[in-house]
Amino acid sequence: MRNKGFSSVVRNEMKLTLPSYSVNEGVARAVVAAFCAQLDPAASELADVKCAVSEAVTNCIVHAYRDSVGSIYITVKILEGNGVRIEVRDRGCGIADVKAARQPLFTTDPSGERSGMGFTVMENFMDILRVRSKPGKGTVVIMFKRFAGRGENK
Ligand SMILES: Nc1ncnc2c1ncn2[C@@H]1O[C@H](COP(=O)(O)OP(=O)(O)OP(=O)(O)O)[C@@H](O)[C@H]1O
Ligand SMILES: [Mg+2]
Repeated sequence: MRNKGFSSVVRNEMKLTLPSYSVNEGVARAVVAAFCAQLDPAASELADVKCAVSEAVTNCIVHAYRDSVGSIYITVKILEGNGVRIEVRDRGCGIADVKAARQPLFTTDPSGERSGMGFTVMENFMDILRVRSKPGKGTVVIMFKRFAGRGENK
């Protein structure tokens, strides 16, 4: 199955467009978490989503629109079966080699401030990570996660 058993039935949907100001990393993280809360996730599951969204949006801010300000398009879909699909899209510089970019510790940042772990975090904290990119056109990151919910030991 293409999406590892995730339903394609959409129960609720949210769209958010933000300019790539660094303050909006926290805005995106909080808004997406608030929307996902309707599925009653465990605190740790919500923390995973916040981290993944934070990494994806930060990449738009620091890489995609490095020398400019552009729009970040976020779509969140609540799927039947306690799943969520999160899409973070930009129309920035794009990624020349997505496979290389997804490797742990890979970074094109020359400042030494970045560790090259953003995609690794997204991959580990979510159930599915897809990255599509075209140099000069932009990048789309799609992530899926299923919530077990707030049972005991969560
Ligand atoms: N939205 C994007 N647009 C353009 N390039 C991107 C985008 N997202 C990631 N990249 C490229 O992929 C590389 C790896 O991204 P990743 O998030 O894993 O690491 P990083 O951002 O360099 O460091 P860290 O996330 O640890 O601060 C980046 O250095 C950048 O070259
Ligand atoms: Mg990053």
